[in-house]
Amino acid sequence: MVTGGAGFIGSHLVDRLLEEGHQVVCYDNLDDWYSGKWRNIERNSENPEFEVQEKSILDFDALRTGLEDVDVVFHEAAQPGIPISVKNPLKTFSTNVNGTLNVLLASLDAGVKKVVYASSSSVYGNGVPRPTGEDCETGPISPYGISKLITEGVCNALGEMRGLRIVILRYFTVFGPRQRPDMAIRKFADLMSSGKPARIFGDGEQTRDFTYVSDVVDANILAMKSTSADGEILNIGYGNSVSVNEVVTKLRKHFPDAPGPAYGEIHKEDVDHTLSDNSKARRLLGWEPKVSFDDGLKAFVDWYLLGGHQP
Ligand SMILES: NC(=O)c1ccc[n+]([C@@H]2O[C@H](COP(=O)([O-])OP(=O)(O)OC[C@H]3O[C@@H](n4cnc5c(N)ncnc54)[C@H](O)[C@@H]3O)[C@@H](O)[C@H]2O)c1
Repeated sequence: MVTGGAGFIGSHLVDRLLEEGHQVVCYDNLDDWYSGKWRNIERNSENPEFEVQEKSILDFDALRTGLEDVDVVFHEAAQPGIPISVKNPLKTFSTNVNGTLNVLLASLDAGVKKVVYASSSSVYGNGVPRPTGEDCETGPISPYGISKLITEGVCNALGEMRGLRIVILRYFTVFGPRQRPDMAIRKFADLMSSGKPARIFGDGEQTRDFTYVSDVVDANILAMKSTSADGEILNIGYGNSVSVNEVVTKLRKHFPDAPGPAYGEIHKEDVDHTLSDNSKARRLLGWEPKVSFDDGLKAFVDWYLLGGHQP
């Protein structure tokens, strides 16, 4: 089962699992926070190995029923996004914390063999050493990051106390085709493609460790197959620093008619920099990120220009 299997990352994971010959249940309520999710999974709708359950992770009974005969749960469903977590923390906490608790308890009840949980680099705050290892102090500065850190604690507690095998993957800013419309690269493309300036919050010198979506999928597949990361927390980040200004400069090559960026006030709930130390995932999973920022950006733009972003 892929919870959130109709979303950006979840739908890529669904595609890969089907390609590898697995039976896949996509458990997703197609939350209307943003549209176009059905399009992410439509291509698989005729595949007999694929089933969509349009239900919420907040519905324990539906989850428990859906988990019958499921071996592995990839738990991607969440209310992601930092700004919305500031505006509507209740939804963020309810979906991310209570929803995950339901997924874990229903998995235990159903005899699921393993849960792979999608956590986030947002659990680290400002001022951590860079590259940041998993042992560095956590200190999230947004409600979203706090919800993800609490949820990691819930995973660890249930994993240890109840014997559920869980792998926690801390993704660093994931990008690629089907990218969520609230995320920076996609927002920049939306503005630039209509001849408007990209809007940058702050001076644009903040940096992110952009990680291509197929590399994140690789990490999930390895976490499913290997036992060496059970009970562990792993950073899943490419290990490269790209500033927001660089992102816009590179995107402008693909949207040559777009004007230069417009700068606005910095958002204090966004960290200044992220950069992963990914050596633990390399060591325990044999994971290796393969797609550079430039290649990934090209794949994103190709998808975008072919109209992939249109609902
Ligand atoms: N995209 C990133 O850069 C990034 C970085 C770090 C962590 N993550 C985590 O990865 C996971 C996937 O993120 P994404 O970017 O693909 O987000 P997304 O919003 O595209 O996907 C999440 C999916 O969960 C579904 N969902 C939401 N509430 C639900 C509910 N109550 N019941 C069932 N389904 C529900 C949504 O409909 C959506 O399809 C999330 O847990 C997110 O926190 C993402």
